[in-house]
Amino acid sequence: MKPTILVTGGTGYIGSHTVVELQNAGYPVVIIDNLSNSNREVIDGIERITGIRPEFVEADCTDLTALKILFDTYPGIKGIINFAASKAVGESMQKPLLYYRNNLNTLMNLLDMMGKYDVKGIVFSSSCTVYGEPDVNPVTEETPIKKATSPYGNTKQISEEIITDVINSGAPFKSILLRYFNPVGAHPSAEIGELPNGVPQNLVPFLTQTAMGIRKELSVFGNDYNTPDGSCIRDYIDVVDLAKAHVIAIERMLDDKSEAKIEIFNLGTGNGMSVLGLINAFESATGVKVPHKIAPRRAGDIEKVWANPEHANKVLGWVADTPIEETMRNAWAWQCKLRERDIM
Ligand code: NAD
Ligand code: WQD
Repeated sequence: MKPTILVTGGTGYIGSHTVVELQNAGYPVVIIDNLSNSNREVIDGIERITGIRPEFVEADCTDLTALKILFDTYPGIKGIINFAASKAVGESMQKPLLYYRNNLNTLMNLLDMMGKYDVKGIVFSSSCTVYGEPDVNPVTEETPIKKATSPYGNTKQISEEIITDVINSGAPFKSILLRYFNPVGAHPSAEIGELPNGVPQNLVPFLTQTAMGIRKELSVFGNDYNTPDGSCIRDYIDVVDLAKAHVIAIERMLDDKSEAKIEIFNLGTGNGMSVLGLINAFESATGVKVPHKIAPRRAGDIEKVWANPEHANKVLGWVADTPIEETMRNAWAWQCKLRERDIM
């Protein structure tokens, strides 16, 4: 029997896909989520895909007492994957304290519990946002960290530092920091996917909602950037590929496959794609048109950033290789499922 993994934020977008991959790999999973940005129906979706219903605790990770009860209830927990966080860049500018409190207290509470309950490792959801606007692309793990441009981004930088300091102080556990680029798509079963609250800020949910007719048209934020077609470039990574990397990271720590107590990996495809390129990929993959117009640049946007994923490719033996067209078809199938269920 494999050890139990605690997945914080496990009913969220990336968390739910990761729970599926963990269960498929034979790990018993306990989810803790306060449902601030997800709902409990996600657990039904996970069960329909895997045939296994994960344990679910509705609680807040900033609540230390609730965490103690959880660890007392599930003494077999040996690994943590910490997805739980507030993640909207714009909102973090308006409510910085909410972001610092939620994201940092969650992490510190978990680190506190790890020592007390003999947990061997924690995977942390970091972000390419730590690189800001890089001087050179693609970015490696050695690319300099730039000053964060939002409280959200700052919580990721501070979290990385907190984990590093705690590990370096001699804490009896390991950590792997995963810097995600732009996760997109949905599970091919269309049982789980991204469910943004209100008007989506991110490109793909806005795109699929526009294709569905929920939004009139997609605004392409800027076509005067220094890129081949003038629109911004990102590294869009399939969420299932991303989820699989977490299983490898957990295994690496729990099976002591590396001497290192702390490791950092970029998780991306290595391919930079423009906004207009992504719209084209969606249209050719699904045959569905996306009404769009060129709009002014969005404040704070980075012109171009994509990953050099070689470190993860070589060391983890992991590669993000789902073709973007397949990812777009999955995103569309998920949007259609939401319509079928009358959710959106
Ligand atoms: P999400 O909002 O879908 O999932 C986060 C989940 O955590 C939600 O279900 C929410 O209800 C829960 N949560 C938040 N605060 C909590 C708390 N205090 N206690 C318990 N549960 C709590 O977000 P996501 O896109 O799945 O992102 C997961 C992680 O990956 C986050 O840490 C995010 O910052 C990071 N990340 C996301 C992206 C992205 O583009 N989606 C990119 C880089 C990094
Ligand atoms: C992608 C591209 C937009 C919407 C954010 C966070 C980052 C990380 C990932 C967590 C950009 C363009 C978008 C629209 C558009 N998250 N766009 N029209 O900005 O790369 O990164 O999510 O860590 O921290 O900042 O993602 O999906 O918002 O935008 O043209 O309606 O799509 O300008 O070029 P972004 P995004």
